[in-house]
Formats: sequence, C-alpha cells, structure tokens
Amino acid sequence: LVTLLDFTLILESLTEGDNALPLYQKLYEELRQAILGGRLLPGQKLPSTRSLAQSLEISRSTVTQSYEQLLSEGYLETKTGSGTFVGAQLPDDLLRSPTLEPSEKSNRPAVRLSKYATELAKAEAPLRPETQAPISFRYGRPALDLFPLELWRKLLSRHCCAQSDWLDYSTDLLGYSPLRKAIAHYISRARAVHCEPDQILITNGTQQALALVTQLLIDPGDTIAMEDPGYVSAKRVFMSQRAKILPIAVDASGLVVQELLNNTTESIRLVYVTPSHQFPTGATLSLPRRLQLLAWAEQTGTMLIEDDYDSEYRYGDRPIPALQGLDRSNSVFYIGTFSKVLFPSLRIGYLVLPQNLVSLFSHSKWLSDRHLPVLEQQVLTDFIEEGHLERHIRKMRSHYDQCRQVLVQALKTYFGERITILGDKAGLHLMIKLHTDWNDEEIIQRAAQVGVGLFPAQPHYLKGNSKGAIILGYGELNPQQIQTGIRKLAEVL
Ligand SMILES: Cc1ncc(COP(=O)(O)O)c(C=O)c1O
Repeated sequence: LVTLLDFTLILESLTEGDNALPLYQKLYEELRQAILGGRLLPGQKLPSTRSLAQSLEISRSTVTQSYEQLLSEGYLETKTGSGTFVGAQLPDDLLRSPTLEPSEKSNRPAVRLSKYATELAKAEAPLRPETQAPISFRYGRPALDLFPLELWRKLLSRHCCAQSDWLDYSTDLLGYSPLRKAIAHYISRARAVHCEPDQILITNGTQQALALVTQLLIDPGDTIAMEDPGYVSAKRVFMSQRAKILPIAVDASGLVVQELLNNTTESIRLVYVTPSHQFPTGATLSLPRRLQLLAWAEQTGTMLIEDDYDSEYRYGDRPIPALQGLDRSNSVFYIGTFSKVLFPSLRIGYLVLPQNLVSLFSHSKWLSDRHLPVLEQQVLTDFIEEGHLERHIRKMRSHYDQCRQVLVQALKTYFGERITILGDKAGLHLMIKLHTDWNDEEIIQRAAQVGVGLFPAQPHYLKGNSKGAIILGYGELNPQQIQTGIRKLAEVL
C-alpha cells in the first residue's frame, strides 16, 4: 500500500486542502480516488486500521471511520478473519464516478473527427437562442395552447390501456399500417397527392425524411440544387453527406426554374423545393413553373424533394396541387409533417416514395432507428380517421388567418412604404424587408429594447444580400400581442 498510495501524497492531502473537512473524510476521499483511479485494484488487501493509523500518525478511530464509510458504499469489503479488501466487484456507477478527475498525464491524442463534424463544429448552434422577449415573433411554432390536449389524452389512454401490442417491435418496416392508410387518404383529399399506403414511410419528422433521401441518393461531391434563400436545416443535412450545394434564386413565383434549365455545368442529382409556401419568402411556386420543373426533372433524370411543411394553412385563394400529384414520371419525393398542424414534439412526418424505392428506404429507416413509437402512431391514426385532424386544421386556419390579417394591417399602418411584405398568403409566418440602413444586429437589438423578439432571415441565405429581411412568425401570438408588437417595433425603428 505504501508504494501504491504514495504516503507522502496522502500525508500532504491530510494536512493541506480544505481544513473544514474532517480528517477521516480526507482519508476516505484519498482512498476512494486510489480505487477509482486503479491504483488500488479490486480484491487487494488494505492494511489494518492500526498499522495505517501508525504509518500516517493519525488516530485509529479516524482510519476506522474512513474504512466504514468506504465499506458502506461498497468500495471495500471485509472477509472475516482475513481483513479488509478493495471490493472485488465494484458497481459500474462507482467506476463512472463524476468526481473522478481526468488524468493530467494522459497522452491520448484528440478524438479524430470526420470532415463533416469539423464543419458542423464551426456552424452555428442548431437551435436558435430563444428570446426572452415578452412578444416574440419566433417562427416555426404553432399555437400549442389551442391544441385539444384532453382529446389527445383520451385517445392515448384508449390505446395504452386496452391493449399491449404497441409494446413490441413493430413488424411493419414502413410504419404503422393503419396510419399509412389514413395519411394516404388525407393527402389525396387535401393535397391531391397520388399514392398507395405502401408508398408511405412514416418518419421522425421532415428532418429524418431529408436525411434518408440524402443518404440514399447522394455521394460526397454530388450536387443538390436548393432555393436561395432556403431552409437552412435542409442544407445542413445535405452537407452531412458532403453534397455540393447549388443555390437557385427565388422570386415572387417561387423557384426560378429557368436557372435550372440554363445550367450546363453542374450535374444535379436532387432539387429541394418548398412549392406551397417557399421557406422563408412565402412565395407559391406557380403552376407553369411546377410543370416546367417536372418536365425538366423527367428529361434530366433528376429527383425533386417537395417539402410541404405547412401547406394546410392557405388563406384566400385555392391551393395548387402538390408537385407530386402532377408528376407522371416518379420524379418526386413528397415530404409532409405533423409538426405544424399538431405539435412538433410528436416527431411524426411522412415520406411518399416512388414505388421502386420503397423497399430500399424502409430497410435504411429500419437500420437508422427501427421505427417510431407505435402508441403515438395509433393515437394519430384515430385522430385522423375520426375527423379530428381536419376539424382542428379548419379551426386553426381561421385563427391563424385572423392573426395574419392583424399582422399585415399593423405592418401597413405603422410602416407603410418603409417595408415590403412577402409571402402572407399561407403558413404561419411571413417575411418583411425593411428599407433601412441599419444592419440586422441593430434592428434586433432595438426591437429587444422594447420587448419584441425578432429573427432575421439571414441564416437561410446561401448567398446574396439579406439585409433587413426579417421572418415574422405569428403562430404563437394572439392578435392583441401582434398589434402591440408591431406598434412598438415601428416606434423604435
Ligand atoms: C421548411 C421546413 N420544413 C420542415 C419543417 C418541419 O420540420 P420537422 O417535420 O422535422 O419538425 C420546418 C419547421 O420549421 C420548416 O421550416
């Protein structure tokens, strides 16, 4: 023990350090660290309390107290007649003790990260910092306080209590089959998407659908064209596969398809679009452009990703059918999500696949995370089948429409010609362009001074000037807050 524990160190630590700590506790800590650090090995015999006390020139009762504590915590054990030993089988959680200091002597080289990880480490944190502002125009969130919680709870307990089939691994690689049927009917009614239930893969939201498509279609260096500005979370997924990103401009009619037609240099593997409500500008891809895009995709063999994230909320004019519904050449991956129409933590979305890719995708999904929790899928199936989903959407559409009108009116009243409003015909956000010399940081700080949280569109720009482009989410605010927020903003800007 003398050689293993280095008595000089023990003696030093007993005399120095925190003098408020009783001596027995200092000794206890020293011995504990020696065990956790491997200097004292499992099964090793410790000196008797008497001889350790003599060597350290401390009282025997101090040593006995330390041993007793270590015994009670399982670090030591006694064998009658033979003495005290380091526990032969230390509990795992003790070996993972949080108080264990990292060894300063370790020469372990740093963990070697992938090129992707190195880039990711440099990128901004994935979650936007939440503003503490009393009125926050945060985007991407629905009005969660209007969600029918009680109904959801009833459906949950209906399935949770009545049966236990949801406890086991699901044997359905594509996702809970009644849910796929319900979704197929719903998107055919609401979005004119043409598909069979066995073309639908239930995913953990849009994000996983994007990851699967990227993983299975893209090799490092392949080109993906996407809208500019465009959804930064999609871009980051594409970059995880080391894709090359080709920015394509967006105007009042959505993606400028002509830029794709003009391209002669890049071999484009995938195009990512948000046709119903371009993110973040809010433009709707016009019907002629949809047809042009589909014809180009068919001719060049390029696949399109249609992200239809909030198309349920369309105000005034009739929605244009989904790209997928107009496609005759299996060129579209259609992605939908319940994050906006229900709630984002549900983490249920769906990917409509061309028939010939179904088995490949379901295999990849199984390898990625097996499947989603079955219970929530059962509840969602009932929610759709019993008509609650469409009822909820109708109610929320009229609520959001009212908020949107108040927002547009307030912007016109308080800002007049000093801003341009974009994309207010659909969704839960719109975008404004402030005609100002201030940079985004100044605008945001001034807004924060009067308790208004603002979010610039800048992270979603691939190139080009985003100065003064602000995304105003109104999903979480009521008309009164919207009115007050815009008035305060106008005053301070
Ligand atoms: C363009 C776009 N697509 C999809 C989503 C939804 O993502 P998820 O289904 O992963 O929650 C969002 C959410 O803000 C979005 O802005």
